[in-house]
Amino acid sequence: MAAACSNNQGHSDWKVTGSSKENIRYSSLTQIDTSNVDQLEVAWVYRSEGGDSTKFGPMQCNPIVVDNMLYAVSPKLKVFALDASTGKEIWHFDPADSVQNKTWHRNGVNQNRGVAYWEEEKDKRIFFTAGSVAYSIDALTGKLIKSFGKDGGINLNEGLDRPDSTVFVAPTSPVMVYKNLFILSGLVGDETPGHIRAFDVKTGKQQWIFHTIPYPSEPGYESWQDSTAYKYYGSTNSWGGFSLDEKRGILFAPTGNPTNDFYGGQRLGNGLYGNCLLALNAETGKLIWHFQTVHHDVWDMDVPTPAVLITVNKDGKKIDAVAQTTKTGMVFMFERETGKPIYPIEERPVQTNTSLVNEILSSTQPFPVLPKPFARQTITENELNTITTDSIELTDLKRRFRTYRSGTIYTPPSVEGTVILPGYDGGGEWGGPSVDPETNILYVNSNEMAWVLNMVENKSEKDKINTMLQAGTALYAQHCRGCHGTNLQGSGNYPSIVHAEKKYSKEKFIELLTTGRRMMPGFNNLSKEEKNAIASYVLNIKEEQHLIYSSSEKPKVGPPTPLYGFTGYNKFLTRDGYPAINPPWGTLNAINLNTGEFLWKIPFGEFEELKNKGIPTTGRENYGGSVVTAGGILFIAATADGKFRAFNKATGKLIWETDLPAPGVATPSVYSINGKQYVVIACGGSKWGGKRNDSYVAFSLPKKS
Ligand code: HEC
Repeated sequence: MAAACSNNQGHSDWKVTGSSKENIRYSSLTQIDTSNVDQLEVAWVYRSEGGDSTKFGPMQCNPIVVDNMLYAVSPKLKVFALDASTGKEIWHFDPADSVQNKTWHRNGVNQNRGVAYWEEEKDKRIFFTAGSVAYSIDALTGKLIKSFGKDGGINLNEGLDRPDSTVFVAPTSPVMVYKNLFILSGLVGDETPGHIRAFDVKTGKQQWIFHTIPYPSEPGYESWQDSTAYKYYGSTNSWGGFSLDEKRGILFAPTGNPTNDFYGGQRLGNGLYGNCLLALNAETGKLIWHFQTVHHDVWDMDVPTPAVLITVNKDGKKIDAVAQTTKTGMVFMFERETGKPIYPIEERPVQTNTSLVNEILSSTQPFPVLPKPFARQTITENELNTITTDSIELTDLKRRFRTYRSGTIYTPPSVEGTVILPGYDGGGEWGGPSVDPETNILYVNSNEMAWVLNMVENKSEKDKINTMLQAGTALYAQHCRGCHGTNLQGSGNYPSIVHAEKKYSKEKFIELLTTGRRMMPGFNNLSKEEKNAIASYVLNIKEEQHLIYSSSEKPKVGPPTPLYGFTGYNKFLTRDGYPAINPPWGTLNAINLNTGEFLWKIPFGEFEELKNKGIPTTGRENYGGSVVTAGGILFIAATADGKFRAFNKATGKLIWETDLPAPGVATPSVYSINGKQYVVIACGGSKWGGKRNDSYVAFSLPKKS
């Protein structure tokens, strides 16, 4: 079985994030099954930050288990090894204490979805990234392997053909190991290209690079109207993680959109290889085929999760296939070697009537005929929230709705506001689907949350800027407003920074801007004068605000200042904070990939207070993935209600649930040791606010008495 490798001592590992390089999140274990899952109890809890509540925070890590050792990452990005049967710590490694962290600029992004394992006889290594550093760690002792890179680490900000001062790389998904290579891309800044790179596992030397923004003479270069775009445009990165057809040596990589999520007037053209599924030769990095899921994306529809590799049984024929779920709620399926669609994909005309200056939208977008979308992609006035509103509020919702543009997933961004559905966070998100290889049923959890995208013109800076305050306000609008809102009040899941001066001195503030933190990117590319100007505005430093602003520093390399920004990630909500559209607000879906038909679909997650009023399960926002087992179960946490659940995989019936210390916004891992099966989940809580924690919680069946 590809997924879980068992040996004769009754151990079964979870050697790779996602269970296998095919990334199907499947376990062949059967001890926990539909008849006994309701007896599950906590086997152990590991407090990854020692229970220190100041260090609690989101964890998206899917632990790996190799030879009875479990490897995972804490909220503050410590990597650790545990005895997987007891949860006792064997070692931990804190990158904050590493020599690399002291000598290199390490980007501060603290998100990590897992680590990777490699072995050759006695040489056993863990590959782990924190900020811009990739570390090679002895899997048995937790010590850095000094012969790798510089004293055990390599600086990922190097090697991208861009001036160091503009580069910001911080992989969030684990590297993929192929023979003696490990391959990565990652979260990057707006001015950093998300090129995919392979490094030697022993030396850390870069072996190949695939330009996700093609250079002259490379295929795809012509898809950018601006012939110099490759020199300064960024993003177009593969942050969702990879899957690998090891036998054929094909790496599958999903990519995000190019710089400026919502305005493409300065990057005209389809912009390859943005929003693609790429098939690369894992040995050389050469492109085999690609498929672009969104042309000229201005909706932030990054392809967010690794594709799954399966063998479908279609019309009596077995086909090695790759299936990709998207934020738009689609499933695209292709033959692995050729990229030929399994089910027809139609290029359908879409709206192009935008009022944004210089913007030219693609006149068609691809739609798979099968499977049907697993999330709603549009709503009408009649589908606004009648569950938690009265008639007065409903009338008001309708009035608001009429002021926005809506209609399809590809309704153009607008100044008056465009309804975005299924939402910036999917549809499907980074948690990704699981697949049962025995039935080819794909299980995917999904959000149905409407957001409103309001574009605003960025006032021409140069004419009007004279004082530090004017410069700070304009720079804030350009770099910060999208997340922290028009008046510092925060937006969507991003925090308010009103009165940041109470928490931050100017020095601390500028340090935070430079390094970033968790889901806040660093702004290493801003000049000192620019950071000072932003500080004068955000920290309300009165005595500096009237000084004359001089942007006298050397001209910067980077994409042009966008003509438009946006006012923030704003959910379309009712007065009480519920989604402004009718439920379901989150769903769990089972789709038969052999036929493209749905097996079942249920609302997923709930609000306690609505349930108590007798309102049927509404579903709720969820992030993190599922695991399907040969024991007949679909395990999944993911929801904002903080539950961990088991469903009957054949019917979608809920058969067990329990409360976690904080929402398990991550994907569980399933393994067994000495004949005992465990399921483990990281419980860090989420960007929603609410409960946070540092616990990894493992469950197993009680000892038979
Ligand atoms: C992509 C979204 C995003 C952008 C863009 C962004 N931030 Fe943030 N910011 C965040 C998030 C998320 C946090 C919370 C970080 C954490 O979890 O520790 C944050 C935290 C902060 C904080 C600390 C808040 C606190 O209470 O400790 C400050 C100050 C801040 N941001 C300022 C800025 C400024 C100034 C800019 C523009 C130069 C900016 N941010 C751009 C997402 C963003």
